[in-house]
Amino acid sequence: MIDPFSSRVNMLLGVFAFCLLNTSAENWCKIHREMADCSHLKLSQIPADLPGNITTLNLSHNQLKGLPPANLSRYQHLVTLDAGYNVITKVDPVLCQNQPALKVLILQHNELQQMSEKCFHRCASLTELSLASNRIKVIKGDPFINLKNLTVLDMSHNILTSMKLGSQPQLQSLQKLLLADNKITQLENEELYFLNKTSLEVLDLSANPLRKFQTGCFHVIGNLHGLLLEKVPLGQELLEKLCSELSGTGIQTLLLRNIQLSSISNTTFSGLSMTNLTSLNLASNGLSVISNSAFASLPQLEHLILENNHIFHLTPLTFYGLSNLKSLNMKKSLIGTNSSKFSIIDDLSFHWLGRLEYLTMDDNCFPEITPNTFTGLSSLKYLSLCNTDLKIITNKTFSSLFNSSLISLNLTKCGIVKLEEGAFSSLGSLQVLDMGLNEISQELRGYELKGLDNIKMIYLSFNKYLSLGKNSFTFVSSLRKLFLRRTALNILDLTYSPFHYLQNLTVLDLSNNNLANLGEDTLDGLHNLENLNLQHNNLARLWKRVYPGGPVLFLKHLVNLQMLRLDSNGLDEIPVNAFRGLSKLKYLGLGLNNLNFFPWSVFDDQTYLDILNLHKNLITSVEKPVFENVFKNLKKLDMSVNPFDCTCESISWFINWINATNTSITGLNYEYICNTPPKYHGLFVTQFDNSACKDMAPFQAMCIINTTVILIFIFIVMLVRFQGWRIAFYWNVSVNRILGFREIDKVGEQFDYDAYIIHAKKDKNWVMKHLIPLEESSVRFCFDERDLEAGLPKLEGIIDNMKRSKKIIFVITQHFLKDPWCHRFKVLHALQQAIEQSQDSIVLIFLEDIPDYKLNQINLRRGMVKSHCILSWPAQQERVNAFHQKLKVALGSSNQVN
Ligand SMILES: *[C@@H]1O[C@H](CO)[C@@H](O)[C@H](O)[C@H]1NC(C)=O
Ligand SMILES: *[C@@H]1O[C@H](CO)[C@@H](O)[C@H](O)[C@H]1NC(C)=O
Ligand SMILES: *[C@@H]1O[C@H](CO)[C@@H](O)[C@H](O)[C@H]1NC(C)=O
Ligand SMILES: *[C@@H]1O[C@H](CO)[C@@H](O)[C@H](O)[C@H]1NC(C)=O
Ligand SMILES: *[C@@H]1O[C@H](CO)[C@@H](O)[C@H](O)[C@H]1NC(C)=O
Ligand SMILES: *[C@@H]1O[C@H](CO)[C@@H](O)[C@H](O)[C@H]1NC(C)=O
Ligand SMILES: *[C@@H]1O[C@H](CO)[C@@H](O)[C@H](O)[C@H]1NC(C)=O
Ligand SMILES: *[C@@H]1O[C@H](CO)[C@@H](O)[C@H](O)[C@H]1NC(C)=O
Ligand SMILES: *[C@@H]1O[C@H](CO)[C@@H](O)[C@H](O)[C@H]1NC(C)=O
Repeated sequence: MIDPFSSRVNMLLGVFAFCLLNTSAENWCKIHREMADCSHLKLSQIPADLPGNITTLNLSHNQLKGLPPANLSRYQHLVTLDAGYNVITKVDPVLCQNQPALKVLILQHNELQQMSEKCFHRCASLTELSLASNRIKVIKGDPFINLKNLTVLDMSHNILTSMKLGSQPQLQSLQKLLLADNKITQLENEELYFLNKTSLEVLDLSANPLRKFQTGCFHVIGNLHGLLLEKVPLGQELLEKLCSELSGTGIQTLLLRNIQLSSISNTTFSGLSMTNLTSLNLASNGLSVISNSAFASLPQLEHLILENNHIFHLTPLTFYGLSNLKSLNMKKSLIGTNSSKFSIIDDLSFHWLGRLEYLTMDDNCFPEITPNTFTGLSSLKYLSLCNTDLKIITNKTFSSLFNSSLISLNLTKCGIVKLEEGAFSSLGSLQVLDMGLNEISQELRGYELKGLDNIKMIYLSFNKYLSLGKNSFTFVSSLRKLFLRRTALNILDLTYSPFHYLQNLTVLDLSNNNLANLGEDTLDGLHNLENLNLQHNNLARLWKRVYPGGPVLFLKHLVNLQMLRLDSNGLDEIPVNAFRGLSKLKYLGLGLNNLNFFPWSVFDDQTYLDILNLHKNLITSVEKPVFENVFKNLKKLDMSVNPFDCTCESISWFINWINATNTSITGLNYEYICNTPPKYHGLFVTQFDNSACKDMAPFQAMCIINTTVILIFIFIVMLVRFQGWRIAFYWNVSVNRILGFREIDKVGEQFDYDAYIIHAKKDKNWVMKHLIPLEESSVRFCFDERDLEAGLPKLEGIIDNMKRSKKIIFVITQHFLKDPWCHRFKVLHALQQAIEQSQDSIVLIFLEDIPDYKLNQINLRRGMVKSHCILSWPAQQERVNAFHQKLKVALGSSNQVN
């Protein structure tokens, strides 16, 4: 009896499973437009629920055992079907019957063993079929006979023992037949007959154990342009047979890489004389002997690759006959003989190669380059000698290229220690000179580079030591790019720019040089420079405020600069004018420095910057006055890994900017971390609660007050600095007044005069008329014009007279203010005496109304004097008496301050 409960559970499970099955493919396959990607899903069935109109179906990397036409029938518009990497053992004869448009069918890495005779008969529209990496041993019948449009058939990595893929001519559109890595041992005419109407671009038979080529086998093939025989152990003898079989065919490209060919004789390639072979690859053969005239039968050859061999000796006849050769690759092929670490290159070895344009000689060992090594290479444009041993470049090294129009010379890693004068004087057409990664250690005086009249780029990075003087680049004024990275660079005289002649230079790399010194004019002349690398130097000191003579603005001449890298320079200060005038800057790298404060307006000229890199500095705050301008058009900002101070004052503006900007901010969500205050330590900047900063008014008020206080303080400091003596004077006077201390007139001290009169020359008459008469009433004045002792020099007399007077009277008029004698000497001295004696000994008589600020011009002020000692000459006659009375009181008063 069935338990009703369990049956219900079973039913539910069944429904659930059904749903799972039904929805799975649709849920898992990725569908993009008309493409369905169902790879890597462990499918054992073709999904039945994809959109019917898909054109591409990827079923690779699953567990399909076959491609049942019924399951595929839904997808009638398929153009590409990839069923690679499954376990398909059989191809159904009616495959493709519902896919009339199928062009690409991929069945690689399956378990196909036998092809049924008609399995692809309905796939007539196929252009590409891959059956690679299966277990196909034999093809019976003509399974491909209907594939009239097929261009690529890949049957590599099977176990075919014969090339026979059909019994009658077919596959007339085929261009590539790939049969690499099978077990084919021979090419027989009958087996190749199926290709009798085919014109093959590529026949790949690499890694087959070929032993035999039946006479005429390649002539059975309609046409053959390229034959690839990599890793077929032919040896010299079989190769010769192959070449004679290829005679008279349309062969153009022959790949004979790694075919165990240790020597080539003058007959090896003779069979190819009746061909138009243009490309021959003999790389990786352990080839050691090339007989004279070995290539004589290949006059059409344009590309010859001899890379990675072990050739002992190049003679003047080695390359005989290669009159059309355009490129020759001899990389790592001259690596010594059995008895020597050097291979020999005879003079004139290359002289048959009059059309050669590309010569690669990298990684070779030969004793030297002689004045005739490259003779005859009159078309040479590109020469690469990387990783050969050249030591010293003299004016003979490249003299054999005098006739050529060499454009590019690569001398990377050549162990060069020195460039002699005229080293490149034969290379007037050279545009690119690469001398990186050498041991060059010298001062460049200019003549080393003489003759490079068309040079565009010189790469000298990674050398031992370079020293630059004023004339280093005199003869290379056409230069556009100069690389001097990590050369222990030394600039001999900072006041002259070594780059002065390089008016067209656009790229200059001075990075990794530990440069600590640059002058304001060291980069003078580089008006067209666009890209300057100065990272990994030691320029921090130059930008410090305390640097003697002020910060060095070494960028000031570079008006066209677009990219500037100053990363890793230990910078901790930036002068406000550091980037002034660099208005075309697009990229500014200041990462990995110690920057914290930026002067306001330092980036004012960088309105059009695209990328700003400030990562790993000590930035705590991002303030509007500094960054508002430079952020305006920024596309990318990297300010990550800085110790942000997450307070309203420091980053509130930044947070608002981030929220509103389109700029891409590198690592915003994980590398912008608050350092202070403790409340936010370790949190992301983006977590900062900006709402608390909404009311910024009090903060701004604070800011204004703070600023005002600071400004006042600065003002006071300046005042003390420049007006100190005056303040000291007022201080004395004030202190004395308030505290009222100090002496009554010294007891017993006697003055010869009651007052010394200071006046302008033009006021002499007034003094004579209105003051001197007062002497009648027991007052005695000292009046220079009358009392200066004859014989004493004038200045000493004045001082003496002042000392002998109890008071000093200033008669103040407009004339007095203008009279140089009065205000320069007498006033100063009088004031000094007043200060020294702490005596209130000054009496001011104003004959005119003089405002206080004018008095200031002569260092006087009304406030310095007691009010009863300030007298004005009355306009009305009747008040003159009162004036006299007041004057007497003033003169009579004690000098004691009270
Ligand atoms: C393909 O079919 C899907 C639905 O099955 C439809 O949304 C889409 O528009 C169709 N595309 C074309 C080109 O017909
Ligand atoms: C083969 O290609 C030709 C030209 O591209 C085309 O007209 C023809 O329809 C194709 N044949 C098949 C069966 O698709
Ligand atoms: C194959 O074609 C060539 C010409 O392309 C012809 O000479 C030859 O007789 C044909 N048949 C055989 C069996 O080689
Ligand atoms: C090939 O070399 C042999 C000697 O090795 C020489 O006798 C013969 O004349 C050469 N043949 C040609 C065509 O140069
Ligand atoms: C080689 O090219 C020439 C000129 O293009 C042509 O006349 C000749 O038939 C070609 N030779 C072969 C074997 O294809
Ligand atoms: C090459 O340099 C030597 C001295 O080192 C000099 O005597 C000779 O004239 C120079 N040759 C040329 C072609 O400049
Ligand atoms: C010179 O060769 C080196 C090493 O092969 C290469 O990295 C460099 O790009 C080459 N220089 C030029 C200018 O091509
Ligand atoms: C600099 O470039 C300009 C424009 O390309 C060119 O006319 C001028 O000759 C160059 N100057 C030098 C010294 O090569
Ligand atoms: C970001 O901007 C949107 C409007 O653009 C605003 O609603 C939101 O509150 C802002 N967020 C912050 C954290 O300021």
